Amino acid sequence: MVRASHEIRTAYLKFFEARGHAVRPSAPLVPRDDPSLLFTVAGMVQFKPLYSTPPDQLPFKRATTVQKCLRANDLESVGRTLRHHTFFEMLGNFSFGDYFKREAIEYAWEFVKSELGLDTERVWISVYEQDDEARAMWREIAGVPAARIVGLGKKDNFWGPAGETGACGPSSELYFDTGAANGCGKSDCAVGCDCDRYIEFWNLVFPQFDQQKDGTLVPLAHPGIDTGMGLERTAFIAQGARDNFHSDLFWPVIARLQELSGLEYERDAATRLAMNAVADHVRALVFTLSEGIYPSNEGRGYVLRRILRRASGKLRGLGIHDPFLYRLVDTIVEVMGPHYAELAPTAPRVASLIEAEEQRFLATLETGMARFEDALGAARGRGDAVPGKDVFTLYDTYGFPPELTAEMARDRGKLEFIVTAREKKEWVAAD
Ligand code: GLY
Repeated sequence: MVRASHEIRTAYLKFFEARGHAVRPSAPLVPRDDPSLLFTVAGMVQFKPLYSTPPDQLPFKRATTVQKCLRANDLESVGRTLRHHTFFEMLGNFSFGDYFKREAIEYAWEFVKSELGLDTERVWISVYEQDDEARAMWREIAGVPAARIVGLGKKDNFWGPAGETGACGPSSELYFDTGAANGCGKSDCAVGCDCDRYIEFWNLVFPQFDQQKDGTLVPLAHPGIDTGMGLERTAFIAQGARDNFHSDLFWPVIARLQELSGLEYERDAATRLAMNAVADHVRALVFTLSEGIYPSNEGRGYVLRRILRRASGKLRGLGIHDPFLYRLVDTIVEVMGPHYAELAPTAPRVASLIEAEEQRFLATLETGMARFEDALGAARGRGDAVPGKDVFTLYDTYGFPPELTAEMARDRGKLEFIVTAREKKEWVAAD
């Protein structure tokens, strides 16, 4: 059975190679030829055109990859849950008009059973609620009892397109029951619940449509397959770890953070959250900077800046006031370098870029924090709402991304923001 994350990557590629898939390298984090996407968000991004390429012009009909991905839309959840990361790796198998649902389900089940060796009694399945065919196949092929197959709506079980246009379709997901202790405890907690009990670790998408710019779904001439298995979640499950951050992908980074800072991860919940977030964020910075993306005030660069500033804010919460993130670069390279040859040669440059960017933010962080405390104090007695103008000043003068202020305020029990349309417009103009 495979356990270590490097074994999972290798086993996945070998498994699908043995079943006729071309092993392709990860595409860069910045998608080529797709201006509608800031970053590669899924394995299928590099293959988007192949879903509508005529069969005789395809370079291959099946492919498999370990793809570098970045998503920063739920930044404030990173470090708090088992489901959120900025940088992550997606293991995928793809069919371009070749095999479809049946084989995708057969392959997935075989991999789960014979390679990962998961306790299949703890595996749950979701299908698109109208997809009776997938439901029947899970019963027939895998023998999953009806009670562990759940039908969910479009929000959960229809995937894509990545970006504005392209292949998309209903999906079927594999979940692992991580146990009641990870759950919300609500009586209706089930697959699809927004807590950490049932972890979705593999999404099998059945692309049947090509979404047009106006949103129209045009049926694909040949339906395909697009799957995405999250390595971080799979490693956590396969290793029986406490959570993703205790898997071999993150724990060495957190251990180094403890060693360098002299702080204990187990000190309290805030420390655990901060260390988780820092480990995640510095990894994202190492990968993006190694590809030549730089922190800036717009587009991709601003995503990096937001990630770095959140990490700096978390370090400050731990009592670390000097540049520190850059000191974790070597450990990230030790963990990830064996699979990503691009990391080691760029590491010294990446570390200096991170240090410089930390310096830049630290120059305004302390005065910004004082301003933030004033705004919180003033918010008391005003329905606990932090006015948008304070949020804007923190952004414009002190470089606090609005979501950072929002998260800090929420952590202090101030739940509301009053942000007027005019202020929102000013932020956009200032971006
Ligand atoms: N493309 C499938 C996924 O991202 O889940």
